[in-house]
Amino acid sequence: MRKKMAAGNWKMNGTAGDLGEIDALMSSHSDPSVDILICPPATLISPMKTRIGDGAIHVGGQDCHIEQSGAHTGDISAGMLADAGASHVIVGHSECRADHGESNDDVRAKARAVWDQGLTAIICVGETLEQREASNTLDIIIGQLAGSIPDNATGHNLVVAYEPVWAIGTGKIPTLDQIGEVHDFIRARLERRFGSGVGRSVRLLYGGSVKPSNAAEIFDVSNVDGALVGGASLKSSDFSPIIAALEASL
Ligand code: 13P
Repeated sequence: MRKKMAAGNWKMNGTAGDLGEIDALMSSHSDPSVDILICPPATLISPMKTRIGDGAIHVGGQDCHIEQSGAHTGDISAGMLADAGASHVIVGHSECRADHGESNDDVRAKARAVWDQGLTAIICVGETLEQREASNTLDIIIGQLAGSIPDNATGHNLVVAYEPVWAIGTGKIPTLDQIGEVHDFIRARLERRFGSGVGRSVRLLYGGSVKPSNAAEIFDVSNVDGALVGGASLKSSDFSPIIAALEASL
């Protein structure tokens, strides 16, 4: 069985004063039946990990370089994230794909760098509004999955996040049927490429405007194994009910 996952992506938000949000999450979810992951800015990974101590919450990075060290001013490697306490790294987020002109090849190389450090890659895919309106969603997903996921994926080293670009930070979400269609499709593609055992073991997260008010219905959709949450992960008062909705869906 796939263990469900509630992942928070803080993006470029949060300073040391926000670490207290973790305390509230730890006290409300001290023995969670789902995986809880927070991906804060890189500056907070180490202090967050220290604060969590033996607690059950995992900490992750939001992006990494394809190499482990070298002359790449301002970049950070998967090995550095691991050293700071990260167990997961998001790669191929649509904001990185757009802001940094990342291609599927770049994302695949980053995922390999993550795997080389023994960490789990959360690889993001998703269509723009224009692509959806042109009925190209599934073709875009095919290309992103084929191009961004390296060979040798397993249920341990890979999580796929479906994040429609037009749903991120907009308050709009696809219909539940649309979410189900894409998640079922991603599952089928993974099974086809990696075999049914691996394909069925990879967790699929939905991301884009997940909130306490819509989480339960999204978690009911087939092949949705959890969520990658942006804005609503910043405050424990929003993220905690989302985690609770995921636990209630078990
Ligand atoms: P929002 O939850 O703010 O829409 O962001 C989703 C996201 O991009 C998570 O990676």
